[in-house]
Amino acid sequence: MTLEKILVVGRQPNTQQAARPFAKKLYAADETDDVWELLEAVEPNLIIFGEDIERTEILRTLRAFQQSSLQRPVLIAGSLNCPPLETYLDEYKYAECVLNIENADDFSRAVQRLLLHQQESASDARFFMEDCPSSVSIVGKSRAMMQTLRMIRLVAQSSCNPVLIIGETGTGKELAARAVHILRNGSQQKFVAINCAALTANLLESELFGHTKGSFTSADRDKTGLLELAGTGTVFLDEISEMPLDLQAKLLRVLQERKFRKVGGLEEIDCRATIIASSNRNLLQEVEAGRFRKDLYYRLCVCPIPLAPLRAESRKDDILLLAEYFIQTSTICPEKKGKIKGLTSMAAEMLTRYHWPGNVRELKNVIERAILLESADRIGTSSLWLNPAFSFDSEQTQETAPAVPIKDFSLEKAERELVKKALEEAGWQKSRAASLLGITRATLYAKVKQYNLQEPEKKPQPVS
Ligand SMILES: Nc1ncnc2c1ncn2[C@@H]1O[C@H](COP(=O)(O)OP(=O)(O)OP(=O)(O)O)[C@@H](O)[C@H]1O
Ligand SMILES: [Mg+2]
Repeated sequence: MTLEKILVVGRQPNTQQAARPFAKKLYAADETDDVWELLEAVEPNLIIFGEDIERTEILRTLRAFQQSSLQRPVLIAGSLNCPPLETYLDEYKYAECVLNIENADDFSRAVQRLLLHQQESASDARFFMEDCPSSVSIVGKSRAMMQTLRMIRLVAQSSCNPVLIIGETGTGKELAARAVHILRNGSQQKFVAINCAALTANLLESELFGHTKGSFTSADRDKTGLLELAGTGTVFLDEISEMPLDLQAKLLRVLQERKFRKVGGLEEIDCRATIIASSNRNLLQEVEAGRFRKDLYYRLCVCPIPLAPLRAESRKDDILLLAEYFIQTSTICPEKKGKIKGLTSMAAEMLTRYHWPGNVRELKNVIERAILLESADRIGTSSLWLNPAFSFDSEQTQETAPAVPIKDFSLEKAERELVKKALEEAGWQKSRAASLLGITRATLYAKVKQYNLQEPEKKPQPVS
């Protein structure tokens, strides 16, 4: 069994010698702090920590891997001899320990176990939420999405009507509305959507209720409104907060009496459809500001379905899952289909740290653009165009551990790390990195020279 790239961490020659027969390319790092640079540049298939590496150092590195969602197979040479590391390994499924690394059989068996585990986890990797019917393609595994799906189910199985879905732009409100519709009606019934912000008051009214011939100047024939057209299906009222107040009163009447009249009509028509409204504004604040009717708010808000923003701690677990899903399903560049395998570790980290003001829609766009730009088989940081203003959310940076754990408190080292991060973030474009750091290009050049920072283009050379 031979692996493409193995990275050996430690100074003892016997670790490299033991690994050499199993690697096409072998890379070496003297200590754990050097691992990060090589991870991005080399993307090793296996990392081996030699016997000379402190066990607590290994523990610290593995924890940092996990915090950065890195799932790299790791082999630890020598005895563990460190109870916290032993406990940790029980949970971290990507590491094995080999007492005698020079025993080729033990070595090979441990690597096989690691690879097998990795394959199993890959085939287990499910995009869609557990118990999600196949017709409802909601990707997610985060705590927040589990709760949302639970609500979607409860609402769909009940006779709750109207339904309100709330969440920031791009969080998946329309997707959730379609899920409620499908779970309640199957795919046979109609789902008709209308954006309340996109039409004038008159047009919106006639779209919703329909009109009779001659009811206004340009009404040259009868028109059936969406409330009637939907039958027993669903009418989706997108951006309900933008509905004019007098129309809100008419909608309230429909919700209460389940009847309406066409514009200019006398006949009462039954409304049999489920009405789902969505809003990316805080409706209660809109009520307080006098822009939204209080009675309509309470009528809508019986069982609201919330969609958390991607940056919320409770939803962050979905970022990489969604990114991988979009990589696999995107049709933006058919000739690259299947060729892009995923994200580099730094790219993954960059995505998890971004603020995502445009939520899932923005993530989808970022990934599609990256697919177009990327020429390697993994999307790297330079293909990810993120708005620098939202790159390092201060709240978030406090909550998540730094990717490169700080070993000492040297200011110089911290500055080097920061400059390097900014360069990576900016895809090594110096002006962008300088503006991220708030310094001039000249200062940046001086820092790059001072800290001997090099663009990872010059890939590290294998030791064999
Ligand atoms: N959980 C998810 N799984 C897969 N795709 C998703 C998910 N959530 C959103 N998307 C995709 O992201 C895009 C935006 O979703 P959607 O239109 O439902 O958001 P929205 O909340 O209605 O946005 P807006 O407020 O701007 O109208 C769509 O392409 C949708 O398919
Ligand atoms: Mg929408």
